[in-house]
Amino acid sequence: MNKNPFKPTFGSIPVAMAGRETIIHDILEGLDNAPGDPNRASILIGARGTGKTVLLASIAEKAQEQGWISINVTSGPGMLDEIIVQARSKAAHLLSTETKVHLSGIQLGTFGITLERNALQSTWREEMTRIVRELNEQGTGLLITVDEISPQHEQLRLLADVFQHFVRERRDTALLLAGLPGNVSLILRDDTISFLRRAFQHQLGAIDINDVSYAIQLTVEAGGRKIAGDALDIAAESTGGFAFMIQLVGYHMWRQHPDLMQITKEDAQAGVRYASRDLDKMIFDTVVRELTTREEEFLLAMAKNKGVSSVRELAGQLGIEPNNASQIRRRLIARGLIADHGRGKVVFDMPLLREYLLREMD
Ligand SMILES: Nc1ncnc2c1ncn2[C@@H]1O[C@H](COP(=O)(O)OP(=O)(O)OP(=O)(O)O)[C@@H](O)[C@H]1O
Ligand SMILES: [Mg+2]
Repeated sequence: MNKNPFKPTFGSIPVAMAGRETIIHDILEGLDNAPGDPNRASILIGARGTGKTVLLASIAEKAQEQGWISINVTSGPGMLDEIIVQARSKAAHLLSTETKVHLSGIQLGTFGITLERNALQSTWREEMTRIVRELNEQGTGLLITVDEISPQHEQLRLLADVFQHFVRERRDTALLLAGLPGNVSLILRDDTISFLRRAFQHQLGAIDINDVSYAIQLTVEAGGRKIAGDALDIAAESTGGFAFMIQLVGYHMWRQHPDLMQITKEDAQAGVRYASRDLDKMIFDTVVRELTTREEEFLLAMAKNKGVSSVRELAGQLGIEPNNASQIRRRLIARGLIADHGRGKVVFDMPLLREYLLREMD
């Protein structure tokens, strides 16, 4: 029996990445270019399950293939220590013996607990400068990727600050961040970390259905089976371009008749049913639970309209002041659920959310 090649698990790199070529291309091109290229400070922004973690990992991997050293961490209290630890091991073959001995003398926890903020900043900056300088001298750049950024993480401020110095000193470095829309928008409004406002922002919206279709086909074939044309259309269409849904649908349609050579239309239909159920439980139920009643009503009213709604009309439908509706609009945009559509109109931004809301209303 062939093993199921789909991976509906957060953080699992898919067998075939759907879409995202432009973002990957832009960032890699930025690495190829000289220091100062704006792509060298980039932020990936997307709701739960849109593929941030996987895209970070994929870019980091490609950067390594281009000869960069890539350090990959999750934002949080131990982050600066972790960066030193990874530098120590990943760059070992490029660093001088003196630096290696010096680095191994640094106690784990130094940057988390022991030092005061200012001392922490200058010491960490010194250590990193030493590493980056030696790497650059050998023609190697340093990429740092940081997942799940949040305005509450003090060490992110320190990292951004030090990185800003690196940019000024024209060192060969790059910083790639990823976070949920709400967290990123709080960070961009935070004056203590204003450097990041100049970072390139990449919104991870819905993936083109043709790209989804191709990725599903590649994954099925990599798993040693085939898929009927109508089955492929049903599966791809059902995802609405939502990255996590690609893996869920693929996973469930595969397991209907894993011993048969081909995935049929019926398998795809059953797969979509199971996948939607999982998606509701794992993503949408949580999204909606986090909303206020007003926000939920706003979204429900939007769902009933054909897809594009004017905020003014929504205010009328809900019987609230336009001012109030604008505030709700702003909060929902910050959460990555809806987006501006120009001329006071809004549309759904999170793939399949409208379909979920319509189902819930039934
Ligand atoms: N471009 C893609 N093509 C196909 N599958 C993808 C793609 N991007 C992500 N996936 C799949 O979607 C799922 C979610 O991806 P990932 O963990 O990267 O999301 P995330 O945005 O980091 O979510 P969270 O905000 O919860 O951390 C995984 O199963 C992953 O394999
Ligand atoms: Mg993630």
